[in-house]
Amino acid sequence: MNSTQILRIAPDAPWLAPLAGYSDLSFRLLCRENGCKAAVTEMVSTKGLCYDSRGTEELLKTTPEDSPLVVQLFGSELEFIERAMHSLMEHGFRYFDLNAGCPVRKVIKTGCGASLHTNIDLLETIARRMAEIAGPGNSGVKFRRGWTSGEDNYLEIGKRLQNAGTAWVALHPRTAKQGYSGQADWSCLKELASSLEIPVIASGDLITAEDGVRCIRETGVQGVMFARGALYGPNIFNDYLTLLRGETLPPRTGQDLARIIIRHAELSRQHLPERKALIKMRSIVPRYVRHNPGVRRLRNELINCDSWDNLKAMILDFLEADHGAA
Ligand SMILES: Cc1cc2nc3c(=O)[nH]c(=O)nc-3n(C[C@H](O)[C@H](O)[C@H](O)COP(=O)(O)O)c2cc1C
Repeated sequence: MNSTQILRIAPDAPWLAPLAGYSDLSFRLLCRENGCKAAVTEMVSTKGLCYDSRGTEELLKTTPEDSPLVVQLFGSELEFIERAMHSLMEHGFRYFDLNAGCPVRKVIKTGCGASLHTNIDLLETIARRMAEIAGPGNSGVKFRRGWTSGEDNYLEIGKRLQNAGTAWVALHPRTAKQGYSGQADWSCLKELASSLEIPVIASGDLITAEDGVRCIRETGVQGVMFARGALYGPNIFNDYLTLLRGETLPPRTGQDLARIIIRHAELSRQHLPERKALIKMRSIVPRYVRHNPGVRRLRNELINCDSWDNLKAMILDFLEADHGAA
C-alpha cells in the first residue's frame, strides 16, 4: 500500500473516527469523497495480526486513495504490539493509534482497550514503544475521561503520553463504565487541550456538522473526529467544512441522500465479496434514512432484496415517495 498523504491535525481537517464494524475501506472512501481528510481503521487486534487471522487481514484492506490512513491497534502485550507494528510498516502502513477507550467486555477482559485506564504505567510503556517504532509524528492514543465516575485520569494520561513521545491524543470524554450513555463532557476536552502541547482531537457527541464547529470553538481542540455523525450521513464532513468557513449549508434533498447511498453501494460492491456487500448494504440503508417516515417498511422490504438493481430501485422509490428530505 502507499501512504503518501501527510496526516494533518487541524480544525479544517476533520477525521473519520475508528468504528468497529463500520469504518471499512468502502465507508472510508465514501467519507473521503465527502470531505473527510483522514480516516482511522476499525480496531485491529495485535494478537490477531501476529497469528495471521483472515478477518484481521480484511480489516486492513486499503487502496492508494485511502490515505492518510491511521491503523488503530488494540492489545496489551508489548511483544505482540511490536511484532504487529513491524509487520504493518513492512506493508507500507505509517500511522498508528492505540485503542485505550473500548469498553466492550471481550476487549477489557484481556487487559486491552479502556482497561488500560486502570494500568497507566502499562499504557505509557506501550505508547512509548509505539512512538519509538513508528517514528516522530506517527502515533497517537485514543482514550476516555476515566474508568468510572469520580476516577477521571485523562489529564494524567495525556501528560504521560506527551512525555512518552505520542504525537496526538484523541479524547472521548465519557467514562468506560458510561459506554455511550449520558453526555460527553466537552469541558474535559477544553482542559486537556489547554494542558498539553501535542494536539488533542475531540470525539464524543459530534452528531451534526454544527456540533463539530461548536466543539472546536468552545474547547480549543486542534481537530475533530466524526463517529456516529458520519454513520448517519457522510456529508457531515463537507457540511462541517462549509460551516467552519462561515458559509450556510445548502438545503438537503432526497436526491443528495440517494446519491450517497448508491455510491456507498458501489464502493461496497467494489471492495467486498458481492454477496457480503449486498447483505451489508441491507443493514446500512435504514440508518441513512432513519428519520424518514416509512423506514420500518423499508427495513422489512430490504430483508428480501437479492440484487443490486433491486436495491437501487428500492432506494429511489423510497426517496421519491416524498420521504426525501429528513
Ligand atoms: C459502532 C461503533 C463502533 C466503534 N468502534 C470503535 C473502535 O473500533 N475504536 C475506537 O477507539 N472507538 C470506537 N468507537 C467510538 C467512536 O470512535 C467515538 O469515540 C464515539 O462513538 C463517540 O463519538 P460520537 O458520540 O460522535 O459518536 C465506536 C463507536 C461506535 C458507535
